[in-house]
Amino acid sequence: MPVLRRVRERFREEQPLDGAKVAACLHVTAETANLMQALSAGGAEVALCSANPLTTQDEVAAALVDLGVPVQAKRGEDIESYSRHVHSLADWKPDITLDDGADLLMLLHERGQPVGGGAEETTTGLLRLRRLEAEGRLTCPVVAVNESRTERTFNDRYGTGQSALDGILRATNLLLAGRTLVLFGYGATGKGIAQRARGAGATVIVCEVDPLRALEARMDAFEVMPALDASERGDLFVTVTGSRGVVRREHFERMRDGAVLANAGHFDVEIDLGALRELSGGRVRQVLPLVEEYDLGNRRVHLLASGRVVNLAAGEGHPAAVMDMSFANLALAVEHLKLHGEGLENRVLAVPKELDEEIARLKLESLGVGIDTLTAEQREYLISWDAGP
Ligand SMILES: NC(=O)c1ccc[n+]([C@@H]2O[C@H](COP(=O)([O-])OP(=O)(O)OC[C@H]3O[C@@H](n4cnc5c(N)ncnc54)[C@H](O)[C@@H]3O)[C@@H](O)[C@H]2O)c1
Repeated sequence: MPVLRRVRERFREEQPLDGAKVAACLHVTAETANLMQALSAGGAEVALCSANPLTTQDEVAAALVDLGVPVQAKRGEDIESYSRHVHSLADWKPDITLDDGADLLMLLHERGQPVGGGAEETTTGLLRLRRLEAEGRLTCPVVAVNESRTERTFNDRYGTGQSALDGILRATNLLLAGRTLVLFGYGATGKGIAQRARGAGATVIVCEVDPLRALEARMDAFEVMPALDASERGDLFVTVTGSRGVVRREHFERMRDGAVLANAGHFDVEIDLGALRELSGGRVRQVLPLVEEYDLGNRRVHLLASGRVVNLAAGEGHPAAVMDMSFANLALAVEHLKLHGEGLENRVLAVPKELDEEIARLKLESLGVGIDTLTAEQREYLISWDAGP
């Protein structure tokens, strides 16, 4: 994680977080451990609990405790234990929070407990915080890290794009070349999956409900068609829409023998599992650890990871090279809140453009890639209204 390492080195010299109490409710993974260390290096007192009991890496939690970072998390903990851990972080009275889903910051709001600011890592968390803001009840500034350009482009397109296919291949050992992949949803994540599947030799068909996105997919040289038609063509079906019941009975009924179904959307509602069970009349067989075979009479279809988010359920989620930029965003957001928090409005705020650009610049440097800068004359031309053609 070279970008985060550079941020950490600067933090160590400048101590911009000196005296801040930063509580993080994030997935307890090796990447998060690097973030905690960067914040500590900047002078912050830090504490961590898990944003999802199923993703906690116990060995990482233990290593952080050895390094003096209090961690409240255990893989597979039940909901009571999870809630107790979030409460204990709130009891610690943090100045700044980091969330992946807003559980910690929402709890502080429920308690009426003051806090200087927060940074949020995911769409679901921002939805909750924006509702709070709309009701006029948000009591601190929140930096929407999830929406920075370095997060949105690289985490979604390249992170999910690669890791969703990685999860599918780990679960099935399928050859993508020569196969037809039907992709539901051509959003930030879907575009990444489509690109990578094409690169691996698959024919990609996109199904969309948004005419602009559908047109974009067509102009990107993918086939676009209604789901009913695509159902007859696909070998592999991948949903990544954020919606529910996207692949359902009428689609299953048209699929070819051996079709494979996977979901990369957040919740396991995109493939209609109830309809699949009904159609199979309970004739379901586990054929590989993460592959269930549904016998639909004259055909069989294969469901991966029970319809759960395939890159996490069957793979390791995003590579560290992507989380590098996501967590550099979080680290710089904490610095921004520490240095400027008092002057910020109690709203959900964009990551400042300079921070986004700083992260992209550091990432380019780490890749050994140089770029040009505008000349003084070009800068003048771009800001003048009377400069002419
Ligand atoms: N697996 C991961 O690591 C990961 C990472 C980021 C986001 N996500 C999840 O992926 C989902 C999509 O995220 P996104 O950022 O790409 O969203 P997005 O809003 O950018 O794109 C979703 C697309 O799906 C389309 N869509 C909606 N309903 C549809 C339907 N019935 N049929 C076909 N297309 C439909 C929309 O028109 C839109 O273009 C969300 O659930 C998000 O939480 C997963």
